[in-house]
Amino acid sequence: MKFFIDTALIDEIKDCWATGLIDGVTTNPTLIKKAGRDPLDVYKSLIDLGIGDISMEVMGTAAEMEYDGMQLYTLFKESTTVKLPMTKEGLQACQRLNNLGIRTNVTLIFNAAQALLAAKAGATYVSPFVGRIDDQGYAGLEVVRSIAGLYKMKGIDTQVLAASIRTPHRVVRSFYNGADVVTMPPKVFWGMYDHILTTDGLRIFDEDATKIVSSS
Ligand code: E4P
Repeated sequence: MKFFIDTALIDEIKDCWATGLIDGVTTNPTLIKKAGRDPLDVYKSLIDLGIGDISMEVMGTAAEMEYDGMQLYTLFKESTTVKLPMTKEGLQACQRLNNLGIRTNVTLIFNAAQALLAAKAGATYVSPFVGRIDDQGYAGLEVVRSIAGLYKMKGIDTQVLAASIRTPHRVVRSFYNGADVVTMPPKVFWGMYDHILTTDGLRIFDEDATKIVSSS
């Protein structure tokens, strides 16, 4: 079970990383744009924090994505996971990078057929977009379940990385439905700590602790 953080905002990642519970980070062009920084600077900052698995998205033709993926690997070594779109070109680049021993994450997965193709192309991770599937009126978690079930049945070692996660409940249910990794925004990660009864219980314990009679 791995927890990834889905943002390019370094300060927010730093706080999550300091918990010791985070295994990696996923980024995409939208998240990098929101951070307002050069992507290479973002990746460098993440590596300086000690993060060893960073999804870095590439775009363009198969040859361009392969080249950019190799360049990223040259710069960032084992911290690099090249994130590729679920397209014919993306899967061609995926095969070539996989043959070079470079980790890959095939993104924008919306059904099990796509996940089978990505696995066949040697993807390290596939990213079904749970929230965006829900938005379309069918169940993102069912897609996670069918991909994870198929991979298990066929002995495929591509890992299911549930993405587009908007609530702690979706984190839990993604794992329940077979995800190996869940990537979540920091807000969702912090939300996993919360329960009203934990807050209330702690308040009562704190109050009672001040009233304990000590013999010393
Ligand atoms: C992660 O790899 C995806 O890019 C991300 O989870 C998409 O999330 P969104 O649907 O909230 O944009």
